Amino acid sequence: MLQGKTVVLGVSGGIAVYKAVELLRLLIKAQAEVHVVMTKNACEFVTPLTFQTLSHNPVHTELFDLYQEQEIGHISLADRADLFLIVPATANLIGKIANGLADDLLSTSLMATKAPVLICPAMNTNMYEDQRYQRNHQQLLADGFHLLEPISGDLACGWQGKGKLPDPQQIFAAACNLLVPGDLSGVRLLVTAGPTREELDPVRYLSNYSSGKMGYAIARSAAARGADVTLISGPVALSEPGGVTTLQVTSALQMQQALAERFDSSDVVIKAAAVADYRPLHKAQQKIKKSAEEFCLQLEKNPDLLAELGKRKKKQILVGFAAETENLLENAATKIKMKNLDMIVANDVTAEGAGFGSETNLVNFLFADGRQEALPLLSKAKVAETLLDRVRELLDKPKH
Ligand code: CTP
Repeated sequence: MLQGKTVVLGVSGGIAVYKAVELLRLLIKAQAEVHVVMTKNACEFVTPLTFQTLSHNPVHTELFDLYQEQEIGHISLADRADLFLIVPATANLIGKIANGLADDLLSTSLMATKAPVLICPAMNTNMYEDQRYQRNHQQLLADGFHLLEPISGDLACGWQGKGKLPDPQQIFAAACNLLVPGDLSGVRLLVTAGPTREELDPVRYLSNYSSGKMGYAIARSAAARGADVTLISGPVALSEPGGVTTLQVTSALQMQQALAERFDSSDVVIKAAAVADYRPLHKAQQKIKKSAEEFCLQLEKNPDLLAELGKRKKKQILVGFAAETENLLENAATKIKMKNLDMIVANDVTAEGAGFGSETNLVNFLFADGRQEALPLLSKAKVAETLLDRVRELLDKPKH
């Protein structure tokens, strides 16, 4: 995927250096040529030998090292980069870059490069929030550097909060995007996936068999094609896709809220989630005890999230799914109209090799203008690819 691309991986000194090792493995696996530059402090956390062994190239550490400069000097390093990555970037290094200081090999090569630069800060929360740091951070953005925001979580220093380096997978996806811009670059895409759970009492819920595989495949594929993807996921047993902002929700009402907050800033919304149509009218505070032979459960209707978005939509491309067990195309055609969609993926969930939990899917695409397209039995990844091809076409279509 990255064959013929040269990446300079700059590593500065923080506990997150170990993640740069994993990132290097991903870059090498994708066949990139990688040259690693480490600061003196970075070498305190992981030895250059680790990076050298994995990159199959000498690691550069010293500006005034005759041997290193003779082999491949810092200007030549800066010149040959298709992408300059800094992982992790300390507050000190960011301060230097923002103020035009160059006093070691990494900061010097960085100043000399004309390649796009992706900086991945990682530090203690208080340092990250410090106004002097934030001033430098904003300066880098204003200067045209690409910054991958740190994430929130448990930090090595024992604090909790923003400052954690994102997963190597996520950094890798962002790097790929800069090296090979995908056809969905710049598109803000919101995907929902999985089932919702509607609580009945502290130990029980109502739900369905949705595994989330279809929605996750769409999120993964869209991120790989350069989209800025937010995945709103019900409870599933899948790991979060790299390069995607994933929001975990449980109930239909929580999904409604997450969608409402992000809808206006989205270009495309794909609703692959199997939202529960009803929820228990009363949630019991204590476990419901068995007594009578028959038990009657009163349910109330959940809002139709997709229909709500259909009413609210302005410029967005809205894609729904129709899970059917009979009258597939008729029912799907009704839903596309009722919910004001641009496209619907009609899914006969009882067909062999299709539907919930399966690795493959058998679907028909229906469009607002009446066009229909029947797809053969395909892997969910391939269905996702084809669906995104059609979304790309809808985005390209002139709006009236
Ligand atoms: N959907 C939704 N909110 C609901 C129910 C469904 O947003 N409360 C969305 C689903 O995410 C899917 C589409 O609507 O994209 C169709 O869902 P489906 O379950 O096939 O149909 P329903 O609209 O629920 O109608 P029915 O259950 O009667 O088939």
